[in-house]
Amino acid sequence: MIEIKELVVSFREKRVLDHLNLEVKKGESLVIIGLTGCGKTVLLKTILGLIRPDEGEISIAGTNITELGEGELNKFRKRFGVIFQSNALFDSLSIGENVAFYLREHMELKEGEIGRRIGEMLKMVGLEGIEELRPSQLSGGMKKRVAFARALISNPEIVLYDEPTTGLDPIMADAINNLILSLHNEFSVTSITVTHDRDSAYKIADRIGMLYQGTIIGPLTLSEIQKTDNPIIKEFLRI
Ligand SMILES: Nc1ncnc2c1ncn2[C@@H]1O[C@H](COP(=O)(O)OP(=O)(O)OP(=O)(O)O)[C@@H](O)[C@H]1O
Ligand SMILES: [Mg+2]
Repeated sequence: MIEIKELVVSFREKRVLDHLNLEVKKGESLVIIGLTGCGKTVLLKTILGLIRPDEGEISIAGTNITELGEGELNKFRKRFGVIFQSNALFDSLSIGENVAFYLREHMELKEGEIGRRIGEMLKMVGLEGIEELRPSQLSGGMKKRVAFARALISNPEIVLYDEPTTGLDPIMADAINNLILSLHNEFSVTSITVTHDRDSAYKIADRIGMLYQGTIIGPLTLSEIQKTDNPIIKEFLRI
């Protein structure tokens, strides 16, 4: 589904991704781990075409997105659901308007249908009936769940999650893990999740890759991880 070849991304003289190669299979839940500042968010933004790489290819379902213009990229992004690390909710819009934002942008639907879908998504993330509130009135965990509802409302084929459980209590984090798993199991969504949360990684991953010095170590399945003698992965996952 996603095939990345020899990807290079630099900011001035600092090279963040350095000939990175990675394949994500259709329907797979891939988890990326790595030290803070190693380039995980940069990788996700490059996959979305928000950062243009210096070198390399990113093929998504057979299309090399590094060759697309802005207009074509915008159309392509409809296939993605994204949960940014900061949630990126629009403070001036209500929760309902936030959740419907991409749906209104990308699809021609009647208002009644949009309202129904907003209600359905908020219910799915356990936040029924908060359509009229504003982001400033919500806790961090609630905002994260609204970001989920917004990302998933248009039934994306590929979902990118940047630290979906960070800052949540263990019960809420587990609810989010279950949500990720159910999308994966019920709708065969292909996903890449960036996380620092080891429990979450083990729970949701088919394979785990570690971003280290600009490239990916692995990805390895959970049983391969148990057997690995790679010292960097062992130290990071404390195995
Ligand atoms: N737009 C930008 N301009 C310049 N440098 C950037 C830009 N975006 C990211 N960087 C740099 O790229 C490096 C990787 O950043 P990135 O946000 O991808 O890290 P990360 O792995 O997501 O870290 P964290 O786990 O803390 O979220 C950092 O050194 C950062 O300062
Ligand atoms: Mg990040």
